Amino acid sequence: MVMKRRALVTGGAGYIGSHTVVELVHAGFEVVVVDNLCNSSREAVYRVEDITKTSIPFYEADVRDQEVLDEIFETYHIDSVIHFAGLKAVGESVENPLRYYRSNLDSTMTLLERMAAYDVKTLVFSSSATVYGDPQHLPITENAPLSATNPYGRTKLMIEQMLEDTVRSGGDWNITSLRYFNPIGAHKSGRIGEDPHDIPNNLLPYIAQVAVGLRERLHVYGSDYETPDGTGVRDYIHVVDLAKAHVAALKRAPHPGEYKVYNLGTSHGTSVLEMLKAFEKACGRSLPYKIVGRRPGDIATCYADPTLAHLELGWKAVHDIAEACADAWRWQSRNPEGYATSEPMHADVEILAANA
Ligand code: NAD
Ligand code: UFG
Repeated sequence: MVMKRRALVTGGAGYIGSHTVVELVHAGFEVVVVDNLCNSSREAVYRVEDITKTSIPFYEADVRDQEVLDEIFETYHIDSVIHFAGLKAVGESVENPLRYYRSNLDSTMTLLERMAAYDVKTLVFSSSATVYGDPQHLPITENAPLSATNPYGRTKLMIEQMLEDTVRSGGDWNITSLRYFNPIGAHKSGRIGEDPHDIPNNLLPYIAQVAVGLRERLHVYGSDYETPDGTGVRDYIHVVDLAKAHVAALKRAPHPGEYKVYNLGTSHGTSVLEMLKAFEKACGRSLPYKIVGRRPGDIATCYADPTLAHLELGWKAVHDIAEACADAWRWQSRNPEGYATSEPMHADVEILAANA
């Protein structure tokens, strides 16, 4: 009999985590989720259970809670961990840096200590393109110089360093940092997606909320960048492509003693105005916007060279922006209040969207 592999997913109720749990189950993994729900909803995991027709053990707890981690490792035979749990709002990290250092660093240290105690040595970590700062060369390769411009970014850099040091210390660790570019879109079912608790910081969820009538207009942060149309250019990647990369990272034959880093992007840059047009096409109407000043700390252009992930993980993004916008719109229009929207309510939402 083939033993199923079992992964612990921290932050598995969140945006990227919930989509990854779906792909893990589809790929034959058993999954246990731990999440303190500080930026997510229990409903996301219920819906993932429904999509996958699988029961997923869920612990509502902080990853810093050593006793809960011990209980999980003692109850289940876990052979790998994907670590999504973390605070991620750049602006908030500038206002309250200690909360970010305390939460993101402590949770990773506690997790590594408990993994070591239970001899679980395979870890995939959610890093970010933010570790490249303002890139000197495009597309960005993994060996580009690293820097960070805010406390959130510095936690990612520090954690990457912590992970590399852990691997170098011996003990057959096998750790992978995945540097995400800009995740967008939602699962095809329209039942899970991005559900920001506050005003969205990121472009796509903001546009989606304008489209559904929750916000008046998009504010385009700057039209005087050195880019083809003057607005910021980013590498937007469908969240399901991103999710599949985590499965690929876990499936890669274990290479004990290795610390690996991969860019997860598409290699294509898209401007703010191009993204707005793509979303207008997806939702079938024009969306109001206003050009305002640049957002402090923003860079002009950022896109990945994802060749290494293709060569070593056999992974490549396959969904384009049009598909991601259509999927994000399906999620947003069916769930205008995110997970607080009760299902099913498709007919009501069509009326709401039409009146918006
Ligand atoms: P998210 O906020 O939707 O998911 C993070 C999850 O972790 C949430 O469910 C939250 O409740 C949980 N969490 C946070 N701190 C915790 C703790 N101490 N203990 C237990 N649970 C905790 O965010 P996301 O967009 O899904 O991002 C997942 C990861 O990817 C994060 O580490 C983030 O920094 C990283 N990342 C995200 C992006 C992006 O644009 N979304 C880009 C690059 C990297
Ligand atoms: N933008 C607007 N209006 C908005 C929001 C964003 O014009 O309301 C513009 C930004 O100026 C930028 C582009 O849209 O040009 C993308 O902005 P996002 O905030 O969606 O994404 P960022 O690239 O700024 O940052 C995101 C995450 C970071 C992560 C980084 C790289 O928020 O945490 O991608 O992965 F580090």
